[in-house]
Amino acid sequence: MEIKVSNDVKNLSVDVIVINMFEGEKTSQDLANTYAIDRDKFEGKLGQTYLLQTYGQIPAQKILVTGCGKRDEFGENEVRTAVYKSVKKLQQMHAKTAAFDFETGFDYGKSAAIGAMLADYAFDKYKSEKATRVDEIIFGNVLEDSVNAGKSFGNAMKLTRDLANEPAAFATPSKLAEIAQNLEGITTEIYDKDEIERMGMGAFLAVSKGSIQPPKFIHMKYTGKNVKKKIAIIGKGLCFDSGGMDLKPPSSMLTMRDDMSGAACVLGVMSVLKDFNPDVEVHGIIAACENMASGSAYKPGDILTAKNGKTIEVDNTDAEGRLTLADALVYACELGVHEVIDIATLTGACMVALGTSVAGIMGNDDEMMHKIIETGKNLGEKFWQLPMYKEYFNSLKSDIADMKNTGSRYGGASAAGVFLQEFVKDVKWAHIDIAGTAFLEKPESEFIKGATGAGVRTILSYILNS
Ligand code: BES
Ligand code: MG
Ligand code: ZN
Repeated sequence: MEIKVSNDVKNLSVDVIVINMFEGEKTSQDLANTYAIDRDKFEGKLGQTYLLQTYGQIPAQKILVTGCGKRDEFGENEVRTAVYKSVKKLQQMHAKTAAFDFETGFDYGKSAAIGAMLADYAFDKYKSEKATRVDEIIFGNVLEDSVNAGKSFGNAMKLTRDLANEPAAFATPSKLAEIAQNLEGITTEIYDKDEIERMGMGAFLAVSKGSIQPPKFIHMKYTGKNVKKKIAIIGKGLCFDSGGMDLKPPSSMLTMRDDMSGAACVLGVMSVLKDFNPDVEVHGIIAACENMASGSAYKPGDILTAKNGKTIEVDNTDAEGRLTLADALVYACELGVHEVIDIATLTGACMVALGTSVAGIMGNDDEMMHKIIETGKNLGEKFWQLPMYKEYFNSLKSDIADMKNTGSRYGGASAAGVFLQEFVKDVKWAHIDIAGTAFLEKPESEFIKGATGAGVRTILSYILNS
């Protein structure tokens, strides 16, 4: 789908002109007012649509009226929803070209472009019959720059979703490394198994041992012109999580190609930084590997030494994400950055606690967490802070090592949080658990089933506002 901008959308001869209607108000088209409001009592609730034929009265063949709800409740999230629903309707109608003549009272371009691209998304690469798409969308009454910003957000999300949707046979650690190396405006360093070992990343290395896919430690870097702040973003990069020797049951394993959604988010964000040229230094870090059960796999009872020298008794090989993140966190803290954000499909417990539309957030700096939570609000991403009391560490105590990688079944998301904190030093840090939000087993709000691109909008925006 192509997205364009025009300052004369009213007179374009497109298949459909899309206008908006606030509840209890008239639209900008007399024709629509006559049919939608006077005759059919169309209410204009958010996301409702009403279609009418124009029979040559205006250049467009049809008018689609999209409900925007109450004017005083209308903001960025509502724009995105309204455009998303409109594009979904256009797809159903098999429309190929459409112009949006929304009157909103503000520059709605960025959210509109994001909504349109979310609606356009399908993972149909492997299907003979492709999804129905609108070829061209033109937005009126917007600034081109804001539409372009929205397109970059949309592109970042698309890359993230594609990678997380891809089978593990495609999105291997080596593939992620290759993608990282080819990003525009980014310099990338890839560390192979031997170097991972030399760097002392005993926890990450152990997780990777059961797979024939070699691990890759990926370090991307973006450098702005006048660097004001340095941030590292770390994504959990488990290209497949079978659970290792403490193997997952089939129903839990089925979607575990998504266990690199954090890594995919980092790649998505890094891929579009060049579009914005922010005055920051951004490090994108991924410890990529697979967690497999095999003769060479790490085992329950093994004792691992992480990069900071701390020892970990393996209690359950399925709690592998925190092991890979432990070494990545130590590495990131040594870069001299001001802030570190890690994003990970880390715990089923977080999914149980918060469901599929809210991500968990933990960390050591309330202001930073608050800022991340606030950033997400206008972008349609929700976070909820989970506790990190020291009591959560009690169940991680080990008789023979500095800690175990798992403890009590209860409070699992927080236990993972306090585990990770052992590897954070002298830096502001936030941990985002997207186990529930990264991959949907059925369609929900603005997402088809599968990968959602969780975290991309918020982390990208957070970086741009830094
Ligand atoms: N990748 C999983 C977490 C997960 C679960 C992500 C469901 C998405 C959906 C993680 O590696 C894992 O297996 N965690 C275990 C930890 C347990 C062994 C302490 C879990 O949550 O069951
Ligand atoms: Mg696991
Ligand atoms: Zn995992």
